[in-house]
Amino acid sequence: MFKINENYLKLPGSYLFSTIAKKVAAYTEANPDKEIIRLGIGDVTQPLAPAIIEAMHKAVDEMGKAETFRGYAPDLGYQFLRDAIAQEDYKAKGADISADEIFVSDGAKCDSGNIQEIFSVDNKIAVCDPVYPVYVDTNVMAGRTGTYDAAKETWSDVIYMPCTAENQFAPDFPKETPNLIYLCFPNNPTGSTITKDQLQGWVDYANKVGAVIIYDAAYEAYISEENVAHTIYECPGARTCAIELKSFSKNAGFTGVRLGYTVIPKDLKCKDVSLHSLWERRHGTKYNGAPYIVQRAGEAVYSAEGREQLKKQVAYYMNNAGIIKEGLQAAGYSVSGGVNAPYIWLKTPDGMSSWEFFDYLLETANVVGTPGSGFGPSGEGYFRLTAFGSYENTLAAMERIRAM
Ligand code: MLT
Repeated sequence: MFKINENYLKLPGSYLFSTIAKKVAAYTEANPDKEIIRLGIGDVTQPLAPAIIEAMHKAVDEMGKAETFRGYAPDLGYQFLRDAIAQEDYKAKGADISADEIFVSDGAKCDSGNIQEIFSVDNKIAVCDPVYPVYVDTNVMAGRTGTYDAAKETWSDVIYMPCTAENQFAPDFPKETPNLIYLCFPNNPTGSTITKDQLQGWVDYANKVGAVIIYDAAYEAYISEENVAHTIYECPGARTCAIELKSFSKNAGFTGVRLGYTVIPKDLKCKDVSLHSLWERRHGTKYNGAPYIVQRAGEAVYSAEGREQLKKQVAYYMNNAGIIKEGLQAAGYSVSGGVNAPYIWLKTPDGMSSWEFFDYLLETANVVGTPGSGFGPSGEGYFRLTAFGSYENTLAAMERIRAM
């Protein structure tokens, strides 16, 4: 009889956003007349920018002609896109990353889940608590997290770094030394971030203890404050300790198009083995590249028109963030985030649990959000709202919440 990967059986419940989708579907079925406003999953609502659509149309036409048709994409991504990324996301920001250190993929979710494969199962991971659930769940699947304590909702072999109001949602260095440290700034789910100096502290720490930082910079486009790093490679020393994950989903609305990339500097080594060579091997074996049409769309993100149009799109969502934040504050909620990130993190009222507030909000205001406890035990008593809705829906949601 064949055997399954029993690590999957250790996973409690379903993936957070699948659970929410099922709950909302059940509510909608029972209440078909209710108009639901979804501010739960961080999915964008604005259409793709004109410069991107134009680039995609052009690429589609190229695919229809023998002279310009393309088959398999290069394993690591088309040079035109890797050059644009290296120039605009790194060199222009004073970060020393070259095009051949960039691996184009179909999104940061997959990369953040897959990257753990190149590390030994003995490595100990440290995560912020609350945290984007993909980091932990994929390590569970790999058998790296030990046993689950259902009462505490924690894994025995995971180091949790609480991010709470007491530490301004910025993790402290853990007491126990980790091998892999997952960091996401600006942060999902709390919407807070850390300063460049604080990030430098993490780089210095990782180099000192011999750990690798897996740095998720998916929300970088939302940074509005000067003292926040746009990439971890702005910090000296990051080339020897950090992998960076980037997404086109949040800055350019590619949640349905799918495009992302991972940076592994060639200086990042375990003894004399470069992690770059391992990921290159993995990418070549398991992946056939993001589609040509999508990579051309990605290139348009960096064109002058694309940049201008996307600046407006980010501003549109951040205007929503302001509306949510101010609306909640006026209604007496204790709120953070929403300044460098499209997420607003609120304390649930009257000691309600995160899931109690989820039900209350859904039933009373017909608004969907995300329970903080779904991101980890320190998220209990908190709730996340996203600014990725439409302006009209954001206003309507706030009116309904104020009326609760
Ligand atoms: C979220 O809501 O946390 C994000 O949309 C998840 C993701 O980007 O995969």
